[in-house]
Amino acid sequence: MHDCSLRLVWLTICCCLCITLRASNFENKDYDALNEQSVRGESSFTAEDNAEIVTQLQQDGGAGGSWSQAAFTVQEALRILQPLQPPRSRLTGFDKSSGILGTTLYYAKEAFVLLFMNGPPKDDYLNPRPNVPKLSKPLAQAVTLLESAAEEKEPDAIFLLAEMNFFGNYTHPRNYTEAFRRYHELALLNGNSSAQHMVGFMYATGLGGSVERDQAKALMYHTFAAKGDHTRAQMTIGYRHHTGLGTPRNCNEAAHWYKQVADKAIAFSRSGPPGGQVLQEDAYKIADELGGVYGEGASVVSSGVSANRAGPNSDAHADFDDVLEYLDLMSRKGELKATFSLGQLHYKGSRTMRRNLKIARAYFMTVARKYWQKDGSIREEDQGIAKIASKAAGYIGRMFLRGEGMEQSYEKALTWFRRGVVNGDALCQYELGLMHLHGLGVRKDPLLAGDYFKESANQDFASAQVNMGQLFLDQGDITTATRFFDLAARHGHIEAFYHLAEISNNGVGRERSCGMATAYYKIVAEKVESIHSSFDEANRAYDDGDTEAALVMYMMAAEQGYEYAQANVAYLLDEYKSILSLDSLIPWKKRRSSLLRNAVLALIYWTRSAKQSNIDSMVKMGDYYLGGYGIEADIEKAATCYQTAAETHQSAQALWNLGWIHENGIGVEQDFHLAKRFYDQALETNQESYLPVKLSLTKLRMRSFWNTITNGKVNSIQSEPEPKKDWSFSEWLSTFLEDPHPYYHGAEDDDIDYDDPSLPGSDDSYYDELDESILESLIIVGIAAAIAFLVYYRQQRQTNHRRDLERRQQEGGEGGAAQGNAGGIPMEQRLPRQQADGGFFPPVDDPNFGQWVAGGVGH
Ligand SMILES: *[C@@H]1O[C@H](CO)[C@@H](O)[C@H](O)[C@H]1NC(C)=O
Ligand SMILES: *[C@@H]1O[C@H](CO)[C@@H](O)[C@H](O)[C@H]1NC(C)=O
Ligand SMILES: *[C@@H]1O[C@H](CO)[C@@H](O)[C@H](O)[C@H]1NC(C)=O
Repeated sequence: MHDCSLRLVWLTICCCLCITLRASNFENKDYDALNEQSVRGESSFTAEDNAEIVTQLQQDGGAGGSWSQAAFTVQEALRILQPLQPPRSRLTGFDKSSGILGTTLYYAKEAFVLLFMNGPPKDDYLNPRPNVPKLSKPLAQAVTLLESAAEEKEPDAIFLLAEMNFFGNYTHPRNYTEAFRRYHELALLNGNSSAQHMVGFMYATGLGGSVERDQAKALMYHTFAAKGDHTRAQMTIGYRHHTGLGTPRNCNEAAHWYKQVADKAIAFSRSGPPGGQVLQEDAYKIADELGGVYGEGASVVSSGVSANRAGPNSDAHADFDDVLEYLDLMSRKGELKATFSLGQLHYKGSRTMRRNLKIARAYFMTVARKYWQKDGSIREEDQGIAKIASKAAGYIGRMFLRGEGMEQSYEKALTWFRRGVVNGDALCQYELGLMHLHGLGVRKDPLLAGDYFKESANQDFASAQVNMGQLFLDQGDITTATRFFDLAARHGHIEAFYHLAEISNNGVGRERSCGMATAYYKIVAEKVESIHSSFDEANRAYDDGDTEAALVMYMMAAEQGYEYAQANVAYLLDEYKSILSLDSLIPWKKRRSSLLRNAVLALIYWTRSAKQSNIDSMVKMGDYYLGGYGIEADIEKAATCYQTAAETHQSAQALWNLGWIHENGIGVEQDFHLAKRFYDQALETNQESYLPVKLSLTKLRMRSFWNTITNGKVNSIQSEPEPKKDWSFSEWLSTFLEDPHPYYHGAEDDDIDYDDPSLPGSDDSYYDELDESILESLIIVGIAAAIAFLVYYRQQRQTNHRRDLERRQQEGGEGGAAQGNAGGIPMEQRLPRQQADGGFFPPVDDPNFGQWVAGGVGH
């Protein structure tokens, strides 16, 4: 038995190594080829040669032709660059695989690379290094050509050099300093708005230490670019005026710039086939796929009411593929609803599954054919089938109308809509209305169109509601129109938001509301990602394992005001995810590149994301203030963050943290009673946090209990009458009042090293895995240890007490000095009476163990 499993493991490892070897071989060939080129380049080609050629070319061109000569040089360089494509990431394909086998393969590969293939890692090869990296021969040649053209002030050459240094196009190593220099050069040369935007972006972020962060300059360059009609820049300064970044808040400016983008967005959305463009949604939060920044169940996005709304790829829920598989199974069993859903999924597509119109059509047809025969006659009257078949008919008609996945045909579209409309299908009604409104293949008849829209709108069909609103708007009935737009806006319809924005902005039929207008314009602008956002590129880079490129791309979207991007940037920069993460335990794990180690930036983006009401980010912000990451530790601010997040009653984490700071008296008065209240609320907010909260409560009870029976100074848990409690509150209070030196006990015991980076919440995911029985035994062991300790403690206390007395005699009445305000004290100077938290289970030989078990130290 044992032998057998051992052999199995060996077999697996061997297999892994084989696969790894082959995979590495393939990729290393590219790598070697590149290396070889650069080696050969050294011998047969030098930069001087190249410069000579260029000079000669220029001389040949003569003085008059030097401008076109430079352009020619750029063409030449581009021709050389064209074949150079960046090598794919070595780990592509392994990164995304899940399950035991995938993980094994991934780490086997990592181990293999570490042990046997200790060449320069690819990351170093792509990243800027202190020593200037060698360029491959064609690349060096092209760069020399471009540099000579740039000397001639050829804008295309400067731009290309800047882009290559910034994005790493054509395998050029990234150098943000050089990129900034080039963009800046071009921006000053001809006011190119793309270059101005990039200069603004780099001033805003100080990316890679290329330049000192300067929000005023960032605003200036972005404003120039925006005036040059650069969409990203327009959005950026719209956002900056909206939230007051580097400038006072200015609603009118924000509305103005967001309107510029919204106008372009709506124009794009209205272009295309009848019914408008399909808007691709690329924005998503990386953290959400993993259950949120605090992990599954602890974060707002994956707990409480949101638990069932987590992303399709979330661990807690069925995998998207599983859903597909399940639907497929049901569909095969003849479940028409499943077949229809499959059609819908393929028609709409998602981030992980591209649209597939052919397959969608096949599913819809299957459903429709169950009800209608080829000639349109009905097979059998069945209300259930009729309804779902009509829905399918609506989709089939729509695909004919828009020419999606089949040849465009008004006639066929009409046939299908007429079939579906008999059964009162909302989509068919809307589409028929649309055809009559614009006279598509039918007589133009706005009145009839209005009737169809009305029917459809009554069934809460958003597009029809928008059209109803538009019809009323044309007639000047703003109130009714607004009502319809509001209805459609509930479904997130872009046209509805645009109309609402226009109505608010122009103050039609009501007072102008700049704030509303800006909010609506922002939604419209952000809905059309394809015209201005870098989400698609960012996602691809992230999936390829190129975290640096992904970070930069997300940052660009974040600067434009996308909350999702801000959360992503912060998440990627966040080094304090989990102290117990696997990464920190694996010795060969690559260190994060310097670009990714920037707590200041991380805090900036957590803050921006939190301001756009991301509650998890708000809690994170609190963590950064508490731990002093990227900023001086400010416990009051941390508490404010937790408090704000807790007020929404969605974040169990925030409540737990509040409980924690009250339990340990960090920045606030130590108060076990209040701490328990917060822990209880955390439990109420999120049932999934049962285990960690119960653990904290148990520990708190023990501390509180000890505090009470040792006559400690901290407000103990009072409300719940505990069987073992032998001190009433009034008794406790009277003892408290009698004590002449309430703040002076055991000061020397509290010199606790607080460099320990552990944060509340960072380690509790660990406890999710413990099951109840283990928990029970842990508690029992804990109690046993506590009792053993009590004996020891008694002796210690007596010794301490004696020493105390001696010292008090020596120092006189020093006791009062320690009294101070509870708020805003640095952790090193914590009030002596406060207890330190030694973690859940400090080791027994730890000097802090005593205090931890003991509760009220010194007495
Ligand atoms: C900026 O300059 C580059 C290179 O000349 C050009 O390709 C790009 O279109 C320019 N951008 C704008 C917005 O004019
Ligand atoms: C360089 O690459 C980036 C990112 O892939 C792309 O957006 C940009 O258009 C490229 N620039 C040029 C000049 O090809
Ligand atoms: C990046 O470019 C700057 C000049 O703009 C240069 O001084 C520096 O050495 C370059 N760094 C690398 C790693 O190539």
